[in-house]
Amino acid sequence: MNIGIIGSGHIGGNFGLHLAKAGHQVMFSSRHPEQLADLVRQAGSNAQAGTIAQAADSGSLVVLSIPYGKIPEVAEQVGTFVHGKTLIDTCNAYPQRDGEIAERVRQNPDLRETQLTVDSFPMASVVKALNTIYFVNLRDYAFRPEGSRYALPIAGNRETAKKEVTDLLHEIGFDVLDVGSIADSKVMEVDQLFYNKPMSLQEMQKAAGSR
Ligand SMILES: NC(=O)c1ccc[n+]([C@@H]2O[C@H](COP(=O)([O-])OP(=O)(O)OC[C@H]3O[C@@H](n4cnc5c(N)ncnc54)[C@H](OP(=O)(O)O)[C@@H]3O)[C@@H](O)[C@H]2O)c1
Repeated sequence: MNIGIIGSGHIGGNFGLHLAKAGHQVMFSSRHPEQLADLVRQAGSNAQAGTIAQAADSGSLVVLSIPYGKIPEVAEQVGTFVHGKTLIDTCNAYPQRDGEIAERVRQNPDLRETQLTVDSFPMASVVKALNTIYFVNLRDYAFRPEGSRYALPIAGNRETAKKEVTDLLHEIGFDVLDVGSIADSKVMEVDQLFYNKPMSLQEMQKAAGSR
């Protein structure tokens, strides 16, 4: 599959490396694509670097891994390229980094962080994923054999998109727990049940069941 990565930092970079290793064609992007040469070299022949627009356009699935506060701005720039595609949202709302837009969602328990992405990319199928895992664990705990894998929660409003993301995460060696729709994704948000808590699928299912 062709996969475009918007934001090739700690999460986008490591996820892209795993996807390239799994055999996908990955386009890493940056506002300064020339600075991605080392990452592309590390990823090997399945990867290249481009602009944010090129990554959004070339991917049949797109990964959004940027500071939360920048989501509307990036959607303005490249939203049209993501129409009809699955968009993985790894972004977390941190008021100290992202300002008022994050403060608002943190203060209101009825709002969901990822609703900003859904609203900013209305023609994409947004799946919240990879936002709960610390990048070091993403880097170091992929491609584990069955029986010793970590699980990652996902949430989204479209089943076909969640299936696509589940398959990708399985390919790179993670189990997956589908927590439901975006409305159900509170458990994945900063400081909530599944945030930065490495767990097996069984542990995650147990934690979800005992809520
Ligand atoms: N770090 C973690 O362990 C972790 C874990 C889970 C989720 N997250 C979340 O995932 C997202 C990415 O985190 P990260 O740690 O990977 O961040 P990061 O290493 O700082 O990378 C973020 C990337 O976003 C790009 N970016 C920044 N401003 C932009 C803009 N205005 N337009 C387009 N691209 C922009 C930057 O690319 P260029 O400067 O090259 O353009 C940068 O490489 C954040 O929302 C974070 O909260 C982080």
